[in-house]
Amino acid sequence: MPKSTALSFEGTVDRNAPTLINSVYSERFFHDMRSEALEDQIEHVLVNRKEFDTDMMRIIEKLKQSDEYVRVFDDCFKKLDGEKLNGHTIAFAISAYVSSLRGFNSEFDKYVRGEQAHIDDAVRKGFNLFMGKAVCGTCHFAPVFNGTVPPRYEESESEVLGVAENPYAKHQVVDPDLGRGVARLKEQSDFNRYAFKTPTVRNVALTAPYMHNGAYKTLEDVMDFYNKGGGEGFGIHLDNQTLPFDSLSLNKQEINDIVAFMKSLTDTTGMTSVPVRLPSFSNVALNNRKVGGEY
Ligand code: HEC
Repeated sequence: MPKSTALSFEGTVDRNAPTLINSVYSERFFHDMRSEALEDQIEHVLVNRKEFDTDMMRIIEKLKQSDEYVRVFDDCFKKLDGEKLNGHTIAFAISAYVSSLRGFNSEFDKYVRGEQAHIDDAVRKGFNLFMGKAVCGTCHFAPVFNGTVPPRYEESESEVLGVAENPYAKHQVVDPDLGRGVARLKEQSDFNRYAFKTPTVRNVALTAPYMHNGAYKTLEDVMDFYNKGGGEGFGIHLDNQTLPFDSLSLNKQEINDIVAFMKSLTDTTGMTSVPVRLPSFSNVALNNRKVGGEY
């Protein structure tokens, strides 16, 4: 979905949900980079009125109604003083789970590690174009192909591309979301208006539609956007566009090769299984919830 359904079916949340896989390889979280740690990101989601519209205290109270949850937290956090089931341990447990979601066993990874002798010609050419002529790799840095800057990988970058509100409209206008430009007080500058975090392109074959607003339906549409110089190439003029304006002059074959390369980065091994059951509650209604949640 371009944007996930909001709490109580009241419209949608504000932005496209990014993949959690490999999200740990970042120094900032959310499209607008407002959070500095996975543990801290959780709080934003809990209090967001369109997401959980609750707070940590209410969650702790609820989990305490389950003897099993209390026991599991006691076991996990033996070495801590005081109550084991608290806001910090809950945030820690969730971020530990998210940090475990890492996918480096794609076709591409196996080939570059020498574990597999052959890879499609299109993938090989596409990788060279991604790192070379098409300059994708100057923002989507290898090996995660996200905005975490080598060689130290300690900082996440945002960029201004000029993403359209509706890329299929005849007359295109910039998506009104100001992103990083309105996210944190100390970063609110003209320079950061319309800037968004550079996401990974790993698993993009599975995560259509694209960009912070989910407005681009296919990878081919994303490629067309880049090939024409981003927003500027579609009549969207921003003084601070950081994506080079010039056309990449990629032909159809080259575009297909880059898409083939991105599709070779798919790996969800071991990350899609569903727990057989959840810790039990004495309140039976809570026990009958669908694992993974349900609308
Ligand atoms: C100037 C830096 C920059 C360059 C160069 C760049 N990208 Fe991006 N890319 C970004 C940013 C920033 C986003 C997120 C934009 C948003 O959410 O509005 C993005 C988003 C994407 C997405 C969507 C990911 C998703 O999950 O929604 C894909 C796919 C992508 N880029 C592929 C490419 C390819 C292929 C190239 C080369 C042709 C390229 N990028 C060049 C910065 C860049």
